[in-house]
Formats: sequence, structure tokens, C-alpha cells
Amino acid sequence: MPISISEAPKHIGQEVEIRGWCFNVRSSGSIAFLQLRDGSGRIQGVVVKNDVTVGDWDAAKALTIESSVIVTGMVREDKRSPSGVELTVKTVEPVAIAAEFPIGKKEHGTDFLMDQRHLWLRSSRQEAILRVRDEIEFSFREFMRLRGFILADSPVFTPNACEGTSDLFEVKYFDDKAYLTQSGQLYQEATSSALGKTYCFGPTFRSEKSKTRRHLTEFWMLEAEASFMDFQDNMQLQEDLVVHTVKRVLENRAADLKILERDTKPLETVAQGGFPRLSYSDAVAKLQTLGSDIKYGDDLGADDETILTQQYDKPIFVHHYPVEVKAFYMKPDPADPKHVLNDDMLAPEGYGEVIGGSQRIDDLKLLEERIAQHKLPKEAFEWYLDLRRYGSVPHSGFGIGLERTVAWICKLPHVRETIPFPRMLSRLNP
Ligand code: 4AD
Ligand code: MG
Repeated sequence: MPISISEAPKHIGQEVEIRGWCFNVRSSGSIAFLQLRDGSGRIQGVVVKNDVTVGDWDAAKALTIESSVIVTGMVREDKRSPSGVELTVKTVEPVAIAAEFPIGKKEHGTDFLMDQRHLWLRSSRQEAILRVRDEIEFSFREFMRLRGFILADSPVFTPNACEGTSDLFEVKYFDDKAYLTQSGQLYQEATSSALGKTYCFGPTFRSEKSKTRRHLTEFWMLEAEASFMDFQDNMQLQEDLVVHTVKRVLENRAADLKILERDTKPLETVAQGGFPRLSYSDAVAKLQTLGSDIKYGDDLGADDETILTQQYDKPIFVHHYPVEVKAFYMKPDPADPKHVLNDDMLAPEGYGEVIGGSQRIDDLKLLEERIAQHKLPKEAFEWYLDLRRYGSVPHSGFGIGLERTVAWICKLPHVRETIPFPRMLSRLNP
């Protein structure tokens, strides 16, 4: 009976079949050790020469690192192994003998490993990261459904910019041109006027020439938008989403966090909720006392985010940025029109901005003015302005970057390891 390796502890004393790959093999005289993996887990298979047929012994000896194989054997309890079990192998059926595997035990440089990304994904660390990523994506969707949001996917080909025109990827579109989306937000404003509360979750593209540990040119973003939701409720929704997600990872991916040597204490603190909120003006004043040379009116740089978040053990919200530094669609606070009803959520442990959100301008005239001020082509935004002509309502939303969330929760040094095939300024391969 074929089982997956993760199920092996439930089969102690039984004969099972395992299909997978050898991530390591070694033999000494009359005993061979096959380190097996199948994506669900890892187990050691022990082949004893005198207990198997000559054919099976020869087959075991022929296996190389990353050969694919089907083995049968008895699951035995083994207190020393991390999974608590071991396999006493009875039969060995190689599926394909692998050529010499380019990734070995020795230290490899990141560029080399990135060139070998299609093979590097098989390492236990990369596997663990991708399982955590899966958990995060799943819990994002689960949370949105629990809160009554409908998934309404935004398009990837778009005729115009949303977050500013400087970082668009232009593509040929028959006899015309199009851009790869930087954000699905504007479309979410339309779908949420139809369905009340909607979200999209897909790849977004930015041609920012940023070579930092936080930037990809292709990244995934969940963007939520809700009619009648104000700025305060928007922040609470973001906090609840992050709390839900961190809890799910702690519950379901403890083994992977362990592989990653992720200290879970800081995450347990985050799971309690109660994220501090401070205004942009207070954040700037605080940063100045902490030694930053930031001036009122500057955007928070990566260093500022790090210095500021080091003061807290939970993610923080920085809200009410000056109108000038933020996107055209953000609603100025009626009680303080120099500042917008926006928020950035900054993750702790030096990870910085993971969410950007705001209440949107719902007044037609003001929105027209802002589009003009930002020198955006009005014709392209007529459909968006229609949303203010036909039953405009106060509404808010946000976007959470998946890769930055994964990097933070896994505590990785760089976002490049959070996605199967990263796309960056200097990398399009494999
Ligand atoms: O703050 P941003 O630009 O917000 C928007 O796009 C809004 N339209 C969202 C909305 O309100 N619907 O981006 C949101 C998040 C950032 O906080 C960050 O997590 C992620 O997207 N992000 C990136 N992640 C990786 N690489 C990049 N180059 C990223 N740019 C933004
Ligand atoms: Mg932002």
C-alpha cells in the first residue's frame, strides 16, 4: 500500500510502500542507508544485505543522490530520528538513476543556488518555506471567506497605472500597448460596489529598480476592498487578518518553523493582537529622537521602518501620511485635510512594510482634481470616476504583500526564497 512519508508514524509495525527520491545515500559493507523524501516528509530506509534479495541489494547500491525510487518495507519506531520512525527496507525499485547532483553538502553561493532554483527547491529548508507560504495563502483566503468577502479577480493586463507611472512593465497588446498590473485595487473598487466586499489575490508587477531584500518585480498581493468600511475598521480588518494567519502557521506549520529554526515566541506575541497605532507625524517625531534624519514630508525609508519597529514587539500601524507622499486615490481626513486616511502596517523584527491601505476618495469632484494634480490621463479613469457617479459610498481597502509576509513569518534574510521562482531586477531565470 503506497503511503506518504508523513503518514509513516501511523503505520508502525506495518509493511508499506513509499515512492519518492533519495536525498542522500550511503552504504558500508553490508548495510545501506537511503534517506528518502517525497515532499510530505523525510524518513531513513535501512537496507540490510542479508535480509534482501541480491537484486534488491544491487538496486539499493545503484541509487545516487536524487534518484527516484519505490521501496517497500516495515515501519519501525525509532526514537532517535526526527520523525520518530525508520523503514526497514524489503524491496528497492529504482525509477530513474540521477546524474551527479549539482547541489552538494558544501556551502554554495546564493547566485549558484538561484541558478539551480529548480533543484534547490528540493532542500528541506526550501520545502519548509513553501509549505509555510501555502499555509499563509490558504489562511488569507480562509479569513476573507470567514469575513464575507467574495473573491473577484482583477485583470493582469491593464490600460493604465494605479500606483504611479514610474514602475510599469509595458507589453505589446496587438497593435496597441498594455501594462502588467501593479495593483488590482481600482478594479476591486468596482467589484466591491457590486458585491459589497471583495478581494483579489494574484501576481502584481513592478519594474522598480530596487535591489533590496524586500523587492521582487513579480510578487503576490491580496487586495481587499469593502463598501461602507471606514479607515478605523480597515486597520482592524488588517490586524485580524494578520493575527489569523500567524495563528494558523503556528498551529499547522510548527514542524516547518522548526526546520527553519524560527523562534516562535515573537509570533506568539503577534497572535495576541493589539497592534500599536501611531500617526505619521508622531512616527517622524519619534524617529528623530531615535537618531533618524527624517524630516516631516519624507516617506519612511527602510532604515526608518527598522528603527521604528524595533521599539515594538508587534506589527505597528503608521497612519495619516501627508497627502503629498501618497497615491492620488487616498481620502484626506475631513478633520485634518493635510493628511490622508491611510495606513501602512510595519512588521516587527526589521521586516518593515507588509500592508498598504486607505480609505478612498468617494467625492467625484475631489477625485477629478487629484487625477489632474497627478497628471494622470482623465479618459483612462472615466470608468473609475463612474464609481463616484453611480452610488458612491465611503469605502476602504488594503493590499498585503505575500512574499514580505512569508519572509517575516519565516524570518528569512531576503524575499527571494519565499516564492518558487523569484523575479528580480537581475534575475529572470530559471
Ligand atoms: O503599498 P502598496 O504599493 O499598495 C498598493 O498597491 C495598494 N493599491 C493596495 C491596496 O490598497 N489595495 O503595496 C502593498 C504591499 C506592500 O505593503 C508590500 O507588502 C507589497 O505590496 N509590495 C511588494 N512586495 C514585494 N516586492 C515589491 N516590489 C513590492 N511592492 C509592494
Ligand atoms: Mg506602500
